[in-house]
Amino acid sequence: MKVLEAEFVKGFIRMANDGWEMGWHERNGGNLSYRIKKEEIENLSEDFTYNNNWKPIGTTVKSLGGEFFLVTGSGKFFRNVLIKPDDSIAIIEIDHLGENYKICWGLVNGGRPTSELPSHLMNHEVKMIASGGKHRVIYHAHTTNVIALTFVLPLQDEVFTRELWEMATECPVVFPDGIGVVPWMIPGGRDIAVATSELMKRYDVAIWAHHGMFCSGEDFDLTFGLMHTVEKSAEILNKVLAIQPNKLQTIKEHDFRELAKGFNLTLPERFLYTK
Ligand code: 13P
Ligand code: ZN
Repeated sequence: MKVLEAEFVKGFIRMANDGWEMGWHERNGGNLSYRIKKEEIENLSEDFTYNNNWKPIGTTVKSLGGEFFLVTGSGKFFRNVLIKPDDSIAIIEIDHLGENYKICWGLVNGGRPTSELPSHLMNHEVKMIASGGKHRVIYHAHTTNVIALTFVLPLQDEVFTRELWEMATECPVVFPDGIGVVPWMIPGGRDIAVATSELMKRYDVAIWAHHGMFCSGEDFDLTFGLMHTVEKSAEILNKVLAIQPNKLQTIKEHDFRELAKGFNLTLPERFLYTK
């Protein structure tokens, strides 16, 4: 089977294009990765080309040894994924030590996987373990409204979670575990990957101050939907702050407790403080 005919590849391309259309991927901003299922890989190996060497990931992801990922390329534009996928994305294999990768398909005009590969793979490792293998998608986007908030809100998990929960009733239902915040750090390396994956042990969403967001999910719909929900909530908050910084009314602590009962949710106590 040809790689471009596989359903998961079509889903990946559609999601990348949806992100572009949302305005979250200026130039080469953002990156996407998917942990491919064993049965999905089996059909594709005849279309693979192994004409390159193992290269270091830049970190160790032992539990991901032998896994295959579909990833966006470094410096590639989400805008182009739909029209030239084999130039923009790649399938990579991880070696058994979890320290090196090899390109098996894609990036036909050269290049390498996203510079955020350490963050993607460390997040995949943490979420694969935490979800019992269910989570397969890690998505990084430069979401305008969330980035704007990182200039005016304290960079604390409790503040971002509570403020964004208040902006739409569905938010605590969509991200009941809350949101983690990473202070400004140099992107593309192991340090930011370690900080993000530490937060991903508890959350499905991590904000990078003055940069963007990382989301994790089981499939493309849920992961894109999570990014969209958080970013839309941030857009509402920015509008509220611009109109009148002091809200006249909002969803209160008591309301969240009622919502948790009604939707059978467990909302962590530290986000249910009285303001
Ligand atoms: P890449 O082009 O290497 O994926 O980098 C884009 C980005 O958003 C870095 O954080
Ligand atoms: Zn980025």
